[in-house]
Amino acid sequence: MKRLPIGILGSGKGSNCRAIFERIRSGDLAAEAHLVVSDVLDAPILDIAREFGVTNAYLPPGRFRTRLEPEIEEQLVQMLRDAGVELVVLAGFMRVLHEPMLKAFRRRIINIHPSLLPKFPGLESWKQALVAGETVTGCTVHYVDERIDHGQILAQGEIRILPNDTPESLHARIQVLEHKLYPAVIAEFCERYGEASQQVGGWPDKWVL
Ligand code: GRF
Repeated sequence: MKRLPIGILGSGKGSNCRAIFERIRSGDLAAEAHLVVSDVLDAPILDIAREFGVTNAYLPPGRFRTRLEPEIEEQLVQMLRDAGVELVVLAGFMRVLHEPMLKAFRRRIINIHPSLLPKFPGLESWKQALVAGETVTGCTVHYVDERIDHGQILAQGEIRILPNDTPESLHARIQVLEHKLYPAVIAEFCERYGEASQQVGGWPDKWVL
């Protein structure tokens, strides 16, 4: 089976990126990491890419805080295309993507978010869940669209909120779940890609998991 070429975008510590790399290394994820890009020069995710021998790049984001400058987003599209990336995996990427990326990689960009969307989009969702008095929370993998933590939901994992949970303990348990859920969803994409590559026409332009 042909392996799915993925590109990972992240701004921070990269624990999801590491979980994905470990699953690839252990042989149970039929993906191939072609590129890691970060908008933060000293983001640990770039060190993780180096540790696993994956091509990586810092992309200076430009003058905006929550998005990439349009020309820079075009540059990102080019970098991913040049690297042969078929699925773009957001792993803690703190910028909202716009038309250049969304058009170039339609239904090929996924994100993981630490809540049961549509509940608690945005920052520190585990804290939001605690403050709201929820008894259950979790994480969501979804397609990326032009809205923050929106887009069609692909999979969710749930955990109980314990009476003595602090924001830190809850976040840590959600991350353990993320590290299982994200590779599992990517594995589904790999399967589709492997099957599609054996058919005339290859990877379909539009499909739903
Ligand atoms: C994760 O909690 C993810 O849900 C959110 O950003 C965080 C990234 O963590 N989108 P890491 O950099 O993968 O450790």
